[in-house]
Amino acid sequence: MPGAKITALGCYAPPGVLTNHDLEKMVETSNEWILERTGILERHIAAPEIATSDLAVEAAREALAQRGIAGTDLDAVIVCTVTPDMLFPSTACLVQDRLGAKGAWGFDLVAACSGFIYGLTTGAHLIMSGTHKKVLVIGADTMSRIIDYTDRGTCVLFGDGAGAMLLEPAEDGEGFIGFLNEIDGSGGDYLKMPAGGSRMPATCESVAGRMHYVKQDGAQVFKYAVRKMYESCRALLDLHGLSPKDVSLLIPHQANRRIITAAAERLGLSCEQIIINIDRYGNTTAATIPLATRDAIDQGRLKKGDLVLFAAVGAGFTVGTNLWRWEY
Ligand code: UT7
Repeated sequence: MPGAKITALGCYAPPGVLTNHDLEKMVETSNEWILERTGILERHIAAPEIATSDLAVEAAREALAQRGIAGTDLDAVIVCTVTPDMLFPSTACLVQDRLGAKGAWGFDLVAACSGFIYGLTTGAHLIMSGTHKKVLVIGADTMSRIIDYTDRGTCVLFGDGAGAMLLEPAEDGEGFIGFLNEIDGSGGDYLKMPAGGSRMPATCESVAGRMHYVKQDGAQVFKYAVRKMYESCRALLDLHGLSPKDVSLLIPHQANRRIITAAAERLGLSCEQIIINIDRYGNTTAATIPLATRDAIDQGRLKKGDLVLFAAVGAGFTVGTNLWRWEY
């Protein structure tokens, strides 16, 4: 059975920026509150004509160019998102077409903030099955389309962005090491978009009731996220006979600086072992992990041979952790 490794990374954040000071003019909030409670300074927001597939294609093209391959070389495209261009066709189909990935198959993967980690897990197993040579995993979300900019509890948190990683077969000991993913639907009510699906289709009433926006009980999500981020990282490391000191870098989902530092503290990780870039992007849902990986590379904090722990907790609840040996 072959292994799977990450061989390229592409990222894209739309040029528009919404700062905390901009938000001060929109809702009853302050730069100080947002920074202290979340760690966020600004987030990127897509122009009105831009949709998730546009962000995804930009990130995907960069990954393909980095590896010097064409869309036709891809065997599968997985788009992790909770903000598809439309319910169907899938955003994966739209992206596949624009990349010219003729002959590839693919699908959208809905796991909110854990989406990219579930995509990596799935992509790695397609490669390890021996049936796929090149799988492109994309995390892309245009959260600004489903955020209520009159709700200060959520509108300060989210931003738009995309990232893509290319997965290819690996030699023994390279790349993918393992995963521990878990869903817990009992937490579904704490973070959701109630309308727009088959339970509550779009009606004048659902729109007037602002039900097509993200609703969150922040305190409940916060508590769960801190506990599960720690527990799942710990359990995955235990499973592989590793300890936190073996980890070169924890690349966590960026939902709140306090969630990351609390989990890292419980794991006994030093500041050098974690990457935080929520200040510049906010929570971009499925895109946070590749965007943070890009920053780690740019800062010279991620090198070939490093042991990387990816971890996320999100709506659902969904929990995801992956261990990889970084290979380029
Ligand atoms: O990606 C996974 C999904 N999401 C998350 O992981 C988010 C998890 N939750 C959080 O990050 C935090 O719970 C929040 C950042 C959402 C909220 O921070 P908090 O420290 O838990 O605040 P809180 O909800 O307990 O609210 C404290 C106070 C409240 O006022 P009162 O009731 O004490 O008077 C809120 O109304 O802060 C108020 N508040 C704000 N004040 C200024 C809530 N949002 C704001 C705001 N600006 N933007």
